[in-house]
Amino acid sequence: MKIDIYAAQNSVQEKELKDRTVVVIDVFRATTTIITALHNGCREVIPVAGIEEAIAFSRNYDKNTFLLGGERNTHKIDGFDLSNSPLEYTRQTVDGRTILMTTTNGTKAVRKTHEAKVVLIAGFVNVDAIATYLYNLGEDVVFVCAGTDGKFSLEDILAVGALLSGLKNMGKEITLDDLGFVCVHMYEMYKNDIKEFLKETNHYRRLINEKLENDIDACLDINSIPVVPAYKDGVIRLNAKAH
Ligand code: MLT
Repeated sequence: MKIDIYAAQNSVQEKELKDRTVVVIDVFRATTTIITALHNGCREVIPVAGIEEAIAFSRNYDKNTFLLGGERNTHKIDGFDLSNSPLEYTRQTVDGRTILMTTTNGTKAVRKTHEAKVVLIAGFVNVDAIATYLYNLGEDVVFVCAGTDGKFSLEDILAVGALLSGLKNMGKEITLDDLGFVCVHMYEMYKNDIKEFLKETNHYRRLINEKLENDIDACLDINSIPVVPAYKDGVIRLNAKAH
């Protein structure tokens, strides 16, 4: 199984993902929030590029069938129902609803994959579920990390390391490039206290400054949500086959 990794969403062209098997990761916080919302019963998540597009899209839905979610600079967008905190996407709030979501980096990363064959949504919360799905699929894989504002984010790189380490532990032969080597070895070195290791990093500090430490704990809660969401035809839903 050949592994390719893009450390930030702006470093990959859509055509490079055509007909590939892709895993999108934005640990802080977009993919963690999407996984949480689907696990808590939301019908589907529709990643949209911009705020205006989200509002325009919402006009296609009856009043109580959708919610607008997302952030800019980690803050809830004016007029939206939810921010990008996974803790707001409770079953009571999202059950049966469609979520129209726009975030700074994560939803852009997902939308870059529209020509791919298989697109899975991952974070620390569903590492083993995704690794098992990839193991059974047995295809070469491309990891697309959202990163933060065009730069790589260490939490995404460690999550790739956790997934690759899981595949290796299941006995899968994987071919890594240098970034893949870094992902696996950094994860193996710091897996026992990832939160402590991330304390000096950019997105971690940004969330702490916004008093969002509980979000960090939810995003680092490894294997707490063992589901496999898949993006297809512009919509993210739970992948029936994987459950
Ligand atoms: C993003 O998509 O850029 C992030 O998830 C932003 C955030 O929630 O902090």
